[in-house]
Amino acid sequence: MNTALRKPAAAAQPPLEPQAASAREHLRLSGVQKVYTGGALPVTALADIDLSIARGEIFGIIGRSGAGKSSLIRTLNRLEDVSAGQVLVDGVDIGTLKGDRLVALRRRIGMIFQHFNLLASQTVLENLALPLKAAGFRRDEIEARARELLELVGLQGKEQVYPSRLSGGQKQRVGIARALMLKPELLLCDEATSALDPETTQSILALLQDINRRLGLTIVLITHEMAVIRQICDRVVVLEHGRIVEQGPVWQLFGAPQAEATRALLAPLAAQLPADLARRLAATRQSGARAVLELHYDGQGAEPDFQALGQALGAPVELLHGGIDRIQGHALGRLLVATAAPERRLASFLTQTGLFARAEVLGYV
Ligand SMILES: Nc1ncnc2c1ncn2[C@@H]1O[C@H](COP(=O)(O)OP(=O)(O)OP(=O)(O)O)[C@@H](O)[C@H]1O
Ligand SMILES: [Mg+2]
Repeated sequence: MNTALRKPAAAAQPPLEPQAASAREHLRLSGVQKVYTGGALPVTALADIDLSIARGEIFGIIGRSGAGKSSLIRTLNRLEDVSAGQVLVDGVDIGTLKGDRLVALRRRIGMIFQHFNLLASQTVLENLALPLKAAGFRRDEIEARARELLELVGLQGKEQVYPSRLSGGQKQRVGIARALMLKPELLLCDEATSALDPETTQSILALLQDINRRLGLTIVLITHEMAVIRQICDRVVVLEHGRIVEQGPVWQLFGAPQAEATRALLAPLAAQLPADLARRLAATRQSGARAVLELHYDGQGAEPDFQALGQALGAPVELLHGGIDRIQGHALGRLLVATAAPERRLASFLTQTGLFARAEVLGYV
């Protein structure tokens, strides 16, 4: 690991005096409102946002289109000013920063975008150099830093290449390298993998995780891809009409979503009933038919245990469909099973806590 990346660049980062921030808290939003007043009618994009993000955390923001995700992330580096409330970075209200101190804040925050935002007429090296040139670094320092970061993102030797010669994934790697040039402590990602194919998305997510671990960077990311959240985020907040409707550890939110908006976002991940099974499923039990049970695991307690299920039902259990994900060490998912257990036994089984989070009889086959 490259320790040089950890050292704060004293010239580029005049310290902001931290106030009463807790050691682990990196960002805090309290009572944040954002109203856009440019158009014919004011638009309230954010309302009553209270949020705390820990140092070194990977924090996700999800919500439907127009929910206020980009507005929220843009308040963190003052690309947008809040209309009311405060955004604290290390305990400092960034709304009060002016001049050099605002510049210093922005240098401590890197940002990457869906469409990479690279300058097409400039080489990779020139693109990387821009933030450092503006900050007054010497050419040799800039080149050394660019080399170091291109290596970190797996693009060594690409200094003289123009962006048009790079794939989408490579462009995003350059975007990430550029965002890291000034050794930021916070990386903001607005749909950073949305323009990439699944495989490239995986490699960029792995890179973000690697950066998070190796450099201790806090990462705040927006995505409409729930699989991205599931894979790399520690905690997630759900926005709806500019308000927080739910937040918590990823496993909890995915296991037992409370808000309607969260359920709707997660719906594509929930397996539907397979067509052949749906066709065969009867609403009433014919003689000799087996019951089809849907068992939910929400990560809070029970793990799937077929032996225990069989014992509780007094009959074997056959797995028909479904799967279990392990998120942050918690088993989450839905299983469809068939069992010949009689109705009386089923009724008492459904009330048994400890074997699953929730269960229901879907029908009979
Ligand atoms: N510069 C602006 N001026 C006026 N209204 C804006 C501006 N930017 C965003 N809005 C409005 O604020 C609301 C929130 O927009 P925002 O871009 O934050 O949503 P989002 O969750 O990022 O959506 P998407 O998933 O489509 O990117 C929307 O109603 C949007 O039309
Ligand atoms: Mg957006």
